[in-house]
Amino acid sequence: MKIAIIGTGYVGLPTGVGLAELGNEVCCVDKIKEKISALNAGELTLYEDGLEELFKKNVKAGRLSFTTSMAKAVIGADVVLLAVGTPPHPETKEADLQYIYAAAKELAQYLDGYTVIATKSTVPVGTGDEIEEIVRKVSPQADFDVISLPEFLREGFAIHDFFHPDRIVVGANSSKACEVMKQLYAPFEGKTEFLWVKRRSSEAIKYASNAFLAMKIHYINEMANFCEKAGADINEVAKGMGTDSRIGNKFLNAGPGYGGSCFPKDTNAMAQMARKYGVRLNLIETTIAKNDERKAEMAERVIAKIKNNPQGKIAVLGLAFKGGTDDCRESPAMDILKELLKHSNNIAVYDPKAMQNAEKLLGNQVMYAKDVYEACDEAEILVILTEWEEFRNLDLHRIRGLMKAHKIVDLRNMLNADAVKKSGFDYSCIGMNS
Ligand SMILES: NC(=O)c1ccc[n+]([C@@H]2O[C@H](COP(=O)([O-])OP(=O)(O)OC[C@H]3O[C@@H](n4cnc5c(N)ncnc54)[C@H](O)[C@@H]3O)[C@@H](O)[C@H]2O)c1
Repeated sequence: MKIAIIGTGYVGLPTGVGLAELGNEVCCVDKIKEKISALNAGELTLYEDGLEELFKKNVKAGRLSFTTSMAKAVIGADVVLLAVGTPPHPETKEADLQYIYAAAKELAQYLDGYTVIATKSTVPVGTGDEIEEIVRKVSPQADFDVISLPEFLREGFAIHDFFHPDRIVVGANSSKACEVMKQLYAPFEGKTEFLWVKRRSSEAIKYASNAFLAMKIHYINEMANFCEKAGADINEVAKGMGTDSRIGNKFLNAGPGYGGSCFPKDTNAMAQMARKYGVRLNLIETTIAKNDERKAEMAERVIAKIKNNPQGKIAVLGLAFKGGTDDCRESPAMDILKELLKHSNNIAVYDPKAMQNAEKLLGNQVMYAKDVYEACDEAEILVILTEWEEFRNLDLHRIRGLMKAHKIVDLRNMLNADAVKKSGFDYSCIGMNS
């Protein structure tokens, strides 16, 4: 099939590569010229495990191309996937739909033959109706359907998740569009569950899922606070809870609060959307407020540890919002760093993949270390903010030799508390009286 993908970001690019790998002819369009130039020069514009190999293979095979021209991508396409950003509105915190509406208006000019317009972007309930109206206004004669095709990939695992989805949700009010989707997703038939639902239900499923996961993280963080006072160990408690199949073991890692480009914006958008319908989502609203507070509280824990030597160097490991990605958008690490910077101008940072993106946000306020050990050199305190696997196996002996004082604040519970203490560190982590 011929597929156009509008928006070549963390969703659009892996999806385009995945659909090309399945044998489709995919053309990805983005309005940022530099992105398209880089991709056409064979350079990836974001980090995702396993993306590079499939990207190169499919470009070489002639199944995957990149352009800034909406016309080039959309003319003749059987399916147009909308994967543009829906960031939070700075004041109202609602999903800002200007990019998706602009893309719909533009693509509508180039529709020819029957086309399915599928929204992969996360959009409030009812946005499909709006897109339909926009397209019809621009091209009254066009033969098209608008469906909701929410994306559930996890950054860092986008390629894995594309080929092994838990489920594929299709929100369509037209059986003709469903037939096209069945054809597109035929390789997944019998391998994953398909949910054929109303378009509005599909739009709601995405927000309801993300808000639930955010609440699950908030819940385990509250339990961690409790365990710290009650003398229990949150790692043991989470394991005990997670082995119950009704609860499940995912999203039970206590930490500095959730972040990333999805959970903060989607919980806010969900709460605002519900208010418009006259419904108060108290659980979600509390989650949002408490998650914001948590990041400041985490920074305070670090500051308390260096109050005797406030100018001592702080070594920060981890900047991305989670391990496995270079994405720093709404990263808890960034929020905690901003708090730390109010107290210290002696901070060195290191992240395996996110240094470039972090530099765009932090500028010259911090020192950028080439590895863990350069960051720790002469440091007073070591703070772990992102759960990169390589931080699990730090050479503690070497780090002890490099640091001036021997304090570790591990906000991701990456290290073995007993081993760290035995190595002579003052160690604190989350959810246990370490
Ligand atoms: N990132 C994730 O893990 C994830 C997961 C599930 C769903 N989503 C949702 O998917 C959507 C996209 O997220 P993302 O992280 O890929 O965003 P992103 O910011 O990484 O990428 C969006 C891209 O769209 C481009 N764009 C915007 N308007 C355009 C237009 N008119 N024409 C062409 N290109 C245009 C931008 O230049 C940008 O490159 C959002 O709604 C998000 O909530 C994201």
